[in-house]
Amino acid sequence: MLGSTYDTYDSNASFLSNVFSTYFNHVVAENGCKWDATEPSRGTSDLTECKAVQSFASSNGASFRGHNTFWHSQTPSWLPGSISASDLVNNVIPQHVQQEIQGMGSSVTSWDVVNEVVGDGVSNGMSALQCVQNKKAWPTQTSDNSNTALVADLSFIHAAFSTALKYADSNTRLAINDYNTGAQDAKTACIFAVLADINANAGIPYNRLAVGFQSHISSTNFASKAALVANFAKLASLGADALITELDIALPSATSGNERLQAAIWGDYLDACLYASNCHEFINWDPRDDMSWLGTNEAGTLFDSNGNPKPAAYEVAARLQRYAAGEPMLCATALGTGQCMASAPAGSSTGGSAPSSSAPSSTPVSTSSAPPTTTTTPSTGGTAAHWGQCGGQGWTGPTVCAAPYTCQVSNPYYSQCL
Ligand code: XIL
Repeated sequence: MLGSTYDTYDSNASFLSNVFSTYFNHVVAENGCKWDATEPSRGTSDLTECKAVQSFASSNGASFRGHNTFWHSQTPSWLPGSISASDLVNNVIPQHVQQEIQGMGSSVTSWDVVNEVVGDGVSNGMSALQCVQNKKAWPTQTSDNSNTALVADLSFIHAAFSTALKYADSNTRLAINDYNTGAQDAKTACIFAVLADINANAGIPYNRLAVGFQSHISSTNFASKAALVANFAKLASLGADALITELDIALPSATSGNERLQAAIWGDYLDACLYASNCHEFINWDPRDDMSWLGTNEAGTLFDSNGNPKPAAYEVAARLQRYAAGEPMLCATALGTGQCMASAPAGSSTGGSAPSSSAPSSTPVSTSSAPPTTTTTPSTGGTAAHWGQCGGQGWTGPTVCAAPYTCQVSNPYYSQCL
């Protein structure tokens, strides 16, 4: 599933109905299913907006995912409050998770059961508890910045997951969702540690679990395709799913070169998901630049502020087409040819198998501009190896292929030595 965010109060209604019926086929509420929206006073369930987003999804033939049942941010005004650790773990969290998951019903592909529970200052070898305590946020700490412990263990996470398991449909994946993950680093190691703890101590089978890789990245800070592939394969070997849940790619400025790099990174992330056996949801955070939580200037989404597809939108469509045609993973230009994953590694499926996500219409919505034309910048010399990039808009590398390969146009942004 290829998705994006939506809330009923979003602007640009006609663009949204167009893009969700032609380009995306999966929907997540940007804000409408968060705790402040869904439990405005203790014990009162208000799923009005969350359900409206779910209805928008089904009226566009799209599926729906749930974000989220627990997060330290965007809490209702009665939380964190003066609630004790035991009241929170035994009553408040189970009640909220039950009323939201039960209330939203079975047509939810996955729920972010807990959001952003791992700290940013973690180091390798930390236990799951150390990883979560490093977050230094409610509820392992009180919310008054006094650095005082509140819940001193992982019981709040276990309470959320065991309630979710009880009330979610058996086809709904239960996720931990976080940012700055997906590379081979300490925070990603922590995600695996917390997942193992949830499996062992909350009794959630791996085949019900998922890891959401938010992926709020930039053109200078992103996970390599190789690392994503390896992490997704590791989850697959456990039986857990991998999800890209909130992808956006901030740019220093919206130059054509930066937009081409953005497209290449988007392609890498999408390929890592498409060719994995366990990645069925790929969600872009905010449908166009002027609606992005990053701000318009970051140019972090697939569509520009007029709703026109950017290079990355064409790239996504092209990668989906390649995958659907059973072609192998495209060599990743965001990594350079040296680290190109020309064939899927062990643990992930190959391009010949049935798509794990249904490809939406491959042509992005364009209201005014024609697809950009290919402008191959003159070569700076050298030859590209088999699978290497040899052209495409903004490309400044070699345009000649090592024999016996020839440079073939894949799309306006990639030509490849095949
Ligand atoms: C953001 C929304 O996009 C904003 O509209 C809101 O003001 C703040 O939250 N990680 C998450 C998302 O899990 O829920 C956040 O969404 C972005 C970071």
